[in-house]
Amino acid sequence: MIKFIPTTRLYDDVGEQYFDLVKKLYKTADNHFESEWTEKVEKLLAKLCDRKYAFLTTSGTMGIHIMLLAAGVKPGDKVISTSYSCPASVMPVNAIGAKSIFYDVNKFGSQEVTNIKDEAKAIVVTGLYGDASDMDKIDHPMVLHDSAQNFCGTYNGKPSPSYGAMSILSFNENKNCPIFGTYGAVLCDDDNLAEAIKLMRKNGYKNREVGITHRGIGAQPHEDKALQIYCSLQHLDRWQARRKQIHDYLTEELTKLNVTVRPTPDYNSVTSYHKFAIFVNDKREFRDKIKEHGVECQVHYTNNFARSLLISDNPRDMYYTDKYVQHALTIPSSPWLTDAECETVIDKIKLVMNKNDQGVMIDG
Ligand SMILES: Cc1ncc(COP(=O)(O)O)c(C=O)c1O
Repeated sequence: MIKFIPTTRLYDDVGEQYFDLVKKLYKTADNHFESEWTEKVEKLLAKLCDRKYAFLTTSGTMGIHIMLLAAGVKPGDKVISTSYSCPASVMPVNAIGAKSIFYDVNKFGSQEVTNIKDEAKAIVVTGLYGDASDMDKIDHPMVLHDSAQNFCGTYNGKPSPSYGAMSILSFNENKNCPIFGTYGAVLCDDDNLAEAIKLMRKNGYKNREVGITHRGIGAQPHEDKALQIYCSLQHLDRWQARRKQIHDYLTEELTKLNVTVRPTPDYNSVTSYHKFAIFVNDKREFRDKIKEHGVECQVHYTNNFARSLLISDNPRDMYYTDKYVQHALTIPSSPWLTDAECETVIDKIKLVMNKNDQGVMIDG
């Protein structure tokens, strides 16, 4: 089976260095929480993302939760959210007791940010598949950027996660800088926000000698996970170069087959090559058929959040979200694919697709 993410190959890349370092850590570390390795990795991430601060958290989801708390979002507040992503992009809003007001994605799959009419305490902007939303078009004083998928991508020539009052990263095993399981980070430039984030990830208080100064959540980082991120960062440039190579190959071959590939934004976003999406007639059916031929694809994503009665007050259709929910299938494109595997992916797509899968329209 050609795996969507062959996680054991991640281990082949990072395993030796990680186990060497973690053995030393277990023998020497007095403090298992936010200590030397955490700080080292946070500095590297801040630099890579052109930010003054980076703070590790126990997941990207926790990072979103903390951004909302640091933005002062309280129960009953409204937050502008995307109608199409993984649930992590919107569930923290709900968990805080705030209300998401949903907006559609653009035809490139990232959140549409023009024409936002509703008043809201904050906007959580989510870029998907590797691209950012059109960040310069946002007219809102509190932009919280869910940049989990666009780490290593750029917007207007700058790292995409450098946009927004705060932004987050995820180190989930399917991300550009993956580790075993997941981890996260919150990024910002403002000193007051930085102080709040640091305390909020630690249940809102500094130590037992002082009172509780902030609302918070238990997301304080651990040294051994920071080490994992450190090891993965050593391979990031090579993985990115390979991601691009695979992306270019898949684009060329699929275009020859008249398969619709997720379009490149018409604004200044350069993808991180996080995911490769194609449009087929029925994505679940296609996924099941191609799996029988040994290729694992994924149906990211399957919800129009605006239609979910649990989290939406105003159930309704969303033009591009509904198109993506029905048609957008992600195919293997991880940096660990061999050339032969890339060719097999193309051969099997050719084998299972029928004429309804060709030229699926995103517009119209
Ligand atoms: C767009 C987006 N936001 C948030 C997250 C949540 O990250 P994590 O899995 O680290 O909680 C993910 C991860 O899949 C994601 O893709």
